Formats: sequence, C-alpha cells, structure tokens
Amino acid sequence: MAGNFIEEELKRLKEQGVYRKLRHVEGEQGAILTLDGREVLNFSSNNYLGLANHPALRAAAVAAIERYGCGSGASRLISGNMTLHEELEAKIAALKGTGAALVFNSGYQANIGILSVLADEGDLILSDALNHASIIDGCRLSRAKSVIYPHSDLARLEDELKKAPASARKLIVTETLFSMDGDEALLVEIVELAERYGALVMVDEAHATGVFGPNGAGLVAKLGLVERVPVQMGTLGKALGGFGAYVAGSRKLRELLINRARSFIFTTSLPPAVMAMAIAAIEILYKEPERRLALWHNCRALRDGLKGLGFSLGESQSQIQPLVIGDAQKCMAFSERLLEKGVFAQGIRPPTVPPGTSRLRITLMATHTHEHIHRALKAFEEVKNEN
Ligand SMILES: Cc1ncc(COP(=O)(O)O)c(C=O)c1O
Repeated sequence: MAGNFIEEELKRLKEQGVYRKLRHVEGEQGAILTLDGREVLNFSSNNYLGLANHPALRAAAVAAIERYGCGSGASRLISGNMTLHEELEAKIAALKGTGAALVFNSGYQANIGILSVLADEGDLILSDALNHASIIDGCRLSRAKSVIYPHSDLARLEDELKKAPASARKLIVTETLFSMDGDEALLVEIVELAERYGALVMVDEAHATGVFGPNGAGLVAKLGLVERVPVQMGTLGKALGGFGAYVAGSRKLRELLINRARSFIFTTSLPPAVMAMAIAAIEILYKEPERRLALWHNCRALRDGLKGLGFSLGESQSQIQPLVIGDAQKCMAFSERLLEKGVFAQGIRPPTVPPGTSRLRITLMATHTHEHIHRALKAFEEVKNEN
C-alpha cells in the first residue's frame, strides 16, 4: 500500500511538472562550480559575499575542532551550551545593536520556533504573501489565525489590523529582503502601522544579513529601526557563508525563547566549528567592506547588461535578480539551456513561487569577476535568441 502511494505521488509530481531532483556539486562553493561533473558559472548561490570558502572561516573551524572537538553532545539546555555559542551570540547582538541574540540550528528552525512562541490560539498573525515557507510553517504551528496580505500591500495590512478583535495579540511578520523577488519590504511603513495598531513586528533578515546596513547588520539597521523592530531573525548560512540562524532582540525575548521555543529546546546544539565560522564571518563583515562594494558593483553590471539585452526586470536592485518567465516548463527549459552553455541560474517554480511567476533566480556574489558576468550575459543573449 505504502509502496503504491509513493509511486503514485511521484507520478503525480512528474505529471504536474513540479518533480525535483538533486544536482551534485563537487568541490567548493565558489563563483565557479563543478555541477554534475561540469564546470559552470554559479549564479544560484546565497553565498553572496563568497565567505563559504574564505581562509579565515576555514582556519576558525579547524582551530575550534582542535580546541573544542567536533560535536556539542547535547541540546543547549542540557550540556550543549558551549563557550562559542555565547561568544557568537554576543557578536550578533553587537552587530545588530540589540540587547541580546540567540542562535538556532537553522533559519527554518528559528522561524517555526519563534512564531510558535510569539503567537498562539486566538492571536492573529499578518504575513506577507511572499514570505518564506519556514514562516508559513511557523504560522501554522503557532495555531494562531494567519491572514496573508498581498505582497507589500499596506492598505490591506491596515484593513486587517483594523478588523482584528481588540483582545487578540497581533503579530506582523515579513522578510526584509524577499528571497525570490529581491525587493525590500516597506519596513518604515509597516513599523508605523504596527505602532498605530499595537502589533508586534517580526522580520526575517535571511537575505539582508551581511549585505545591507552598517557592517552588513541588515535592513532594519540600515533604516534606523532597531529600537522599533523587537524581533529580528536572520541566517548564518547565506552571506555569512556557514550554517545556522539567529534571533536578535531584547534579553527578555531571548529568555522567553530559551524557555519556550521547541525547535531551540529539543535539538542538539550546533557544533563548535559552525559557531567559530560564524564568529569569523562577522569579523570579516567589519574588516572587509570591499566585499559588499564588489557585490553592489556586480549587481549593477548584471542588471544593466540584462536590461541592455531587452530583458524586463522587476523592482529588485539587490543581489537577487528574478527574471520572470511565467510558465514553469518554459522557465525550466530556459534554465537548462543556460546550463548547457555553462551558466547555472536556477529555475524556480510553484510551489516555491506563485503559479504563473516561474523565474530564473539569478544571484550575484562578491567573488564574481567582470569576465564571469560578461560570459553569463552572452549566454542569456544566446538563449533568448533561440526562443
Ligand atoms: C527568507 C528565508 N528565511 C528562512 C530561510 C531558512 O534558513 P535556513 O536555510 O538557515 O534554514 C530561508 C532559506 O533557506 C529564507 O530564504
């Protein structure tokens, strides 16, 4: 029976054109990648600053293994709260300008853990339509009523806040830099609405951490909103080049999450090497601002180049450039043709993005060279001319 279900489900996924399979990467995560045995230009990584193979991160990981060993052996609340966890949390809080920070094992675990602590049955979560799956799952787990407002639609957000019962606790949750569209949330306005209607604001800075704001502190810091956004979540596995996630906020928030967030409590804590890499990555944010400058330079070069080729691009000015194709199959075919020409720009289709908005999600890295971008643009031009 179970066998039948599995086969039928796989068949259904294939028929619906949403079947996925893993690609194999050999060697390092760089601007050039060996993918399924072929060398390609990598325009599909969240390793925005190129830190995933930075010598300082490697050295920090090796030194941490030498000093503290490999595993943490237990969850944080048992015997897994090691020196490096606390050191990293102090570094994150200093970077973000908050009273405290708490590390989670991944962004997914952070979002489900935080949301299910901050909202409960009878409460209301207002969530942007383009929020990440981990936020959606966190909303579901919390058992609060979730209302999805159309992407960045402030009028709808205000309507929903007005309609909410006075007794309900209200939480607005949004990414700051949207992962699939690369545009920024209207944070100043969202914070104003939250203050007017007594709602709490939680942001997900997964794609803004390391990239925007002073020393890469994120968009909340860039906009001067640190004091007004009480819950700032972000990840350590994208621009910071390692793995894991954090929430930055008040000491009381940290204390509550340590006591209540099930995805924090019931899991083995991250190993010392992962903590050491994140500490090294944060130090590089301060020491090597030229990485952010190189990234911005590359964003502009790619964007201008694609526009020059007649592609219509959306709002994004960031390191995430969506090239919307629309139809899922056409999008995947475009991506495959680019790959044949040595350029990896992943096609993204439903359910990751809404139907009819399948796109190539092109991501830039600080370590792309002028020549890499030039070669990519040439491949885009050739594939466009085939269609
Ligand atoms: C906006 C956003 N939030 C959370 C996550 C989850 O983070 P992690 O990969 O650390 O689980 C991701 C991506 O993976 C993301 O894009």
